[in-house]
Amino acid sequence: MSGIIVVGAQWGDEGKGKVVDVFSAESDYVVRYQGGANAGHTLVVDGKKTVLHLVPSGILHDTTKCIISAGVVLDVEQITKEINALKESGILKSTDQLLISDGATILLPHHRKLDQAREAALKNEKIGTTGKGIGPAYEDRAARRALLFGDLFAPEEKTRKRVEHSLKETNFLLKNYYKQDAVELDDVMSVIATARESLKAFRCQDASLLIHKALNAKRSVLFEGAQGTLLDIAHGTYPFVTSSSTIAGSACVGAGVGPTAIDKVIGITKAYTTRVGSGPFPTELFDAVGEDIQKKGGEFGATTGRPRRCGWLDLVALKYAIRTNGITSLAMMKMDVLSGLDEIKICVSYKDKDGHLVDEYPMNSTEIEEMTPIYETVPCWQEDITKCKSVEELPKTAQDYLKKIEGAVKRPIDVVSVGPGRKETIWVRPLFND
Ligand code: GDP
Ligand code: IMO
Ligand code: MG
Repeated sequence: MSGIIVVGAQWGDEGKGKVVDVFSAESDYVVRYQGGANAGHTLVVDGKKTVLHLVPSGILHDTTKCIISAGVVLDVEQITKEINALKESGILKSTDQLLISDGATILLPHHRKLDQAREAALKNEKIGTTGKGIGPAYEDRAARRALLFGDLFAPEEKTRKRVEHSLKETNFLLKNYYKQDAVELDDVMSVIATARESLKAFRCQDASLLIHKALNAKRSVLFEGAQGTLLDIAHGTYPFVTSSSTIAGSACVGAGVGPTAIDKVIGITKAYTTRVGSGPFPTELFDAVGEDIQKKGGEFGATTGRPRRCGWLDLVALKYAIRTNGITSLAMMKMDVLSGLDEIKICVSYKDKDGHLVDEYPMNSTEIEEMTPIYETVPCWQEDITKCKSVEELPKTAQDYLKKIEGAVKRPIDVVSVGPGRKETIWVRPLFND
């Protein structure tokens, strides 16, 4: 078996897309297992940027098969746009490169409309969702009224009935509670008709079976997480989370493979921390250093363009991510962004409101908000590190930073990223079969 999960260890945007693109050179399959077009995964190759929302980040490699599995909420209009753009740029050359499971949940215009209406009504209490309809689509799935990808190919009357069922409640809410126009059934059916035509060539029916066969044949399968640990519906900073399970266990659930198929879980973390949207963030910076990191790191959302809140690396949160995901090793991203700072702070534990030391990440968002970070200050490197090709080439202060983190969280750092491009990657250990 060669199943590897790539999972965000923070609040998303850690650089999962870059890591998956780099790893895809050695992967036969890349599987998206949860989330939807709320994700924005950026790949940079020879200075050319590709942002993916639903298509797995293995797509730049012609021979890697990209799978969208049952755990994903599939915005059929967004994926069609993405596919067309990838065809135009010559990246998507064959329909064999992308496969969609019959079990994926279809996300439709009324899901987006309800998400946006809810956020607008929340005023100062907003979650800060991406407005992509993720919550309402997963709600429909849990309420057993969702349309699945396979249903697109069922007799028209059956599909219409299912959509009518989903629309009834959503329209009731839109009209009577949020005072908005209803979404017309015929309009949704026309979106579905277009999707059926544009996506039928990518239908793979049972993706779980395909992945199972691949693993049995010792092919390498990468499971690509979206969002990050602290946005997990059950283990994140609730209610400021997304509506799916984002932790590594979700790869098994979403893709339909057993936990014994997984050999490694690679946790992706930035050398600092960012968050988009509302919610607690103990190490957030509100000063010129935070602004500097935001500017140098280009910390603006790949999906919504919103500025990302920036702060120091939080080892209490990172240890929590290691525990809840079973992370076996780490990829440390964006080391280059810290270059030139006067000093770096690392949050090693918290103090609660009564002054007690807290080493374990609190389960409750209100408690997290009350935490004061305890920092260790370390020197920063001043050199440009973007050309470094090995850990030994990094300045000693940068090596010490990595060693300190490895020692504190007791996990090896397998990959160090020193720039957005593929080549700006230091491999400490091989990915498969080390
Ligand atoms: P994802 O959602 O986890 O895939 O991450 P995003 O693509 O949303 O955000 C990460 C951003 O950082 C993207 O713009 C990447 O191109 C960029 N990036 C990734 N790794 C590095 C790195 O090591 N250094 C710098 N400067 N940028 C990076
Ligand atoms: P990637 O895969 C960062 C955040 C939103 C909001 C919360 C709920 O690029 O790392 P939602 O639209 O999911 O209902 O929003 O989750 N969020 C992300 N933040 N990266 C993401 O994805 C995110 N996807 C959702 O900002 O706070
Ligand atoms: Mg992102």
